[in-house]
Amino acid sequence: MISDPAARTSKLVSGISVSAIKTMSMLAARIEDAASLAWGLPSFPTPRPIRDAVAAALRDDPDIGKYTLPDGLPELRRLVAQAHMAETGIAVDPDAHVHITSGNMQGLNTLFHVLIDPGDEIIVTDPGFASHFQQIRMLGGRPVFWSMDEADGWRLDVDALDDLITPRTKAIVLVTPSNPTGRIINEAELRAIGRIAREHGLLVLIDDPYSHFAYENRSRIFNLASVPELRDTVVYLFTFSKIHAMSGWRLGYMIAPEWLKREVLKVHDATLICTPRISQVAGIAALSEETDHVREFEAILAGRRDRICERLDAVPHVFDYARPEGAYYVFPRIRAEHADSQGFAMRLLEEAKVVVTPGGAFGPSGEHHVRMAFCVGDVTIDKAFDRIERLFPA
Ligand SMILES: Cc1ncc(COP(=O)(O)O)c(C=O)c1O
Repeated sequence: MISDPAARTSKLVSGISVSAIKTMSMLAARIEDAASLAWGLPSFPTPRPIRDAVAAALRDDPDIGKYTLPDGLPELRRLVAQAHMAETGIAVDPDAHVHITSGNMQGLNTLFHVLIDPGDEIIVTDPGFASHFQQIRMLGGRPVFWSMDEADGWRLDVDALDDLITPRTKAIVLVTPSNPTGRIINEAELRAIGRIAREHGLLVLIDDPYSHFAYENRSRIFNLASVPELRDTVVYLFTFSKIHAMSGWRLGYMIAPEWLKREVLKVHDATLICTPRISQVAGIAALSEETDHVREFEAILAGRRDRICERLDAVPHVFDYARPEGAYYVFPRIRAEHADSQGFAMRLLEEAKVVVTPGGAFGPSGEHHVRMAFCVGDVTIDKAFDRIERLFPA
């Protein structure tokens, strides 16, 4: 009997799929002149001072091609501790608490390896970030969906949290501002979540790609890692991907309680050894160079948010939406005739060469929505909406 090697795929892996974001982007790459709002990949190049620092290190540093310690270069961890102090007022020890990751997806995957036994539960927002669900499922865990209230601009109902917690719950994952809704979870809500998590002995994993993109809502951004009583409850994950336009460098960091960093190191060492040194050198430059690029990016994104909202306002027969408070996503409900978000997204792609991500990928509440990323230039936003208007005349 000839056996099929493909039949040996793990059931957990065959049960998940490549995220809809990347699937749509891969389809779009084959279509000439597609207008893509699918991927949250900022249009900005990595800022010049960061690239210059890397170029100098490539030229002059004989160690540039070598592994680093598994938890990262001491100089980068020292700068991270400094940045965390400036951001939160909390002192952390670069050796005991700071761990350098290859971005938040890798950091979370490592954390889930530490936390999840098959059958365990992780609470995620619904809608929420699709790759979180996949990572949890890949380890035999179960994402437990915590609905955001669309009628109230995608507010999280903190009173509903207690009922979602079971003896199998290990952690709650939060993203604020949210991907895909752009909703900010405010200080009172975050503190309440922290209190409930602490009472139940759960961890709160803060996945933070977007907190520096908050536009006029900056004062409403609150970092739960700044609450001293929650030092043993909150794990803070920061990524350089969006804020420093470094998505391809694969760099982030995690601030974790001491016991957890010890466990994280085991998984990280066994799977990655270390984050590439060259990316860590880029991170040192990002944290030490004086540049205004974050404010510049935010100002440009603010203009693009206005643009996409104006264009959405002009097609109320196609979409209904809540104005995003932060990040660079909008998550409109589909009002045009359609069966489901997947079919609608495919129709936009095939009939209008417009690429969006079907909302169903972001959780049960995401069905009948699409996600649009407005980190692309105005020209792409306009091209996409000109075509949408042609496909769905008023
Ligand atoms: C919520 C969220 N987490 C994580 C990531 C990926 O982060 P990284 O590039 O650091 O792996 C993204 C990227 O879109 C995201 O939106």
